[in-house]
Amino acid sequence: MKKIDVVLGLQWGDEGKGKVVDVLTPNYKVIARFQGGPNAGHSLHFGDKSFVLRTVPSGIFRDGSINIIGNGVVVDPVSLTEELRNISEQGIPVKEKMLISKKAHIILPTHRMLDAASEAAKGKAKIGSTLKGIGPTYMDKTGRNGLRFGDVLAEDFIDRYNALKAKHVEMLSHYEGFEYDITEYEQSWMEGIEYLRGFTFVDSEHEVNKFIDEDVAILAEGAQGSMLDVDFGTYPFVTSSNTVCAGVCTGLGVAPTKVGDVYGIFKAYCTRVGSGPFPTELFDETGEELRRIGHEFGAVTGRPRRCGWLDLVALKYAVMIDGVTGLIMMKSDVMNDFDTVKVATAYKINGEVVDHFPYEVTDNLEPVYTEFKGWKCDICKVRRYEDFPAEFKTYVEFIEQQTGVPVKIISVGPDRAETIIR
Ligand code: GDP
Ligand code: IMO
Ligand code: MG
Repeated sequence: MKKIDVVLGLQWGDEGKGKVVDVLTPNYKVIARFQGGPNAGHSLHFGDKSFVLRTVPSGIFRDGSINIIGNGVVVDPVSLTEELRNISEQGIPVKEKMLISKKAHIILPTHRMLDAASEAAKGKAKIGSTLKGIGPTYMDKTGRNGLRFGDVLAEDFIDRYNALKAKHVEMLSHYEGFEYDITEYEQSWMEGIEYLRGFTFVDSEHEVNKFIDEDVAILAEGAQGSMLDVDFGTYPFVTSSNTVCAGVCTGLGVAPTKVGDVYGIFKAYCTRVGSGPFPTELFDETGEELRRIGHEFGAVTGRPRRCGWLDLVALKYAVMIDGVTGLIMMKSDVMNDFDTVKVATAYKINGEVVDHFPYEVTDNLEPVYTEFKGWKCDICKVRRYEDFPAEFKTYVEFIEQQTGVPVKIISVGPDRAETIIR
């Protein structure tokens, strides 16, 4: 029996999951998303083409792949429809290649309004949400009010929609001064629902387990990153789903015993978009360089990403929670010209050195850095590990030694081809 392999982000999202899934897909028949929704933006580049995928699994462009939107995902019919139409314009038969779980929850136009109202009410303490309605939709899921894709097939679907919308409208009336108009969006939402009716809705837990039993290779694609996990991330500045490996089990209906390799993706430095703690954040010229060279602007919102050095304390924490079996390092090419590269190996909290990720990151936390000599050359053309400069290998091997996990893939550019598999 084959097991389901997993690709997930180990930091605060945007590690390069889209690229990695696209690179790995030739080895897999099925790609499945298990959590998150259109808050994700997964970029793919091949040849002269670029795409940003939000809800559609990143295997969609590979011939013969089957792409599943699992029960743990929350879906916005407007955004998904737009995405699928763009992909089908490329000649991809999306209806044949994609399955949607009947148990995936639907984002309503009013969920988006609730997200916006809640953020506005929080003022300075806002999460910096992507405003896609993610939090309110998961709240309705756990609050047992939500609408699921299977409900689209029910005769009274519109009545159910109106009942939930009425509940939201009532809630929105409590946000003083919050004005909204969903007329246009609601129209697109209804059109989206109609378009998506043409797709296959499945009990994806049965499909996934059948594939496993039949020895079909499956890859689960994470969204966001482990430090944004609702339980283990930097709460409350997190997303509303379990982004960690355990999310695969609940988000696809897979038993823990059926999880195989867990590929943990990290950037050779760190970024974060939105509010919340970021111990190694740089506010200086170096941070600016990382943002400029790494094009660190949100794929969904265009917001500038906060940048800083690699944080091994946080990375080791994520490796532990996720049970990572192989690391994938991205974007090291961004630091090609750096004289010095730093890595946080511990934190100093109130003068005391600690090497574990604390309950809360407060202002009295200071990273303890280990410094490395920069490689000072262009590594984008390197295709074999042996050909990397010695300084670069020292950096990689230090990370392996600290985490106890091998770095199996190194990415040196956004394109499919700019990838070294060890
Ligand atoms: P995801 O959300 O994890 O899929 O990541 P995003 O797509 O939001 O952000 C990653 C960005 O880095 C995208 O613009 C990618 O095209 C780009 N990228 C991925 N890998 C590399 C790499 O190795 N080097 C460089 N320079 N860019 C990369
Ligand atoms: P991918 O899959 C980076 C962040 C938001 C905000 C917090 C909560 O592309 O890596 P939400 O809209 O989920 O309620 O926002 O989480 N966030 C992401 N940051 N990459 C993402 O996805 C993200 N999805 C959500 O910026 O701080
Ligand atoms: Mg992204």
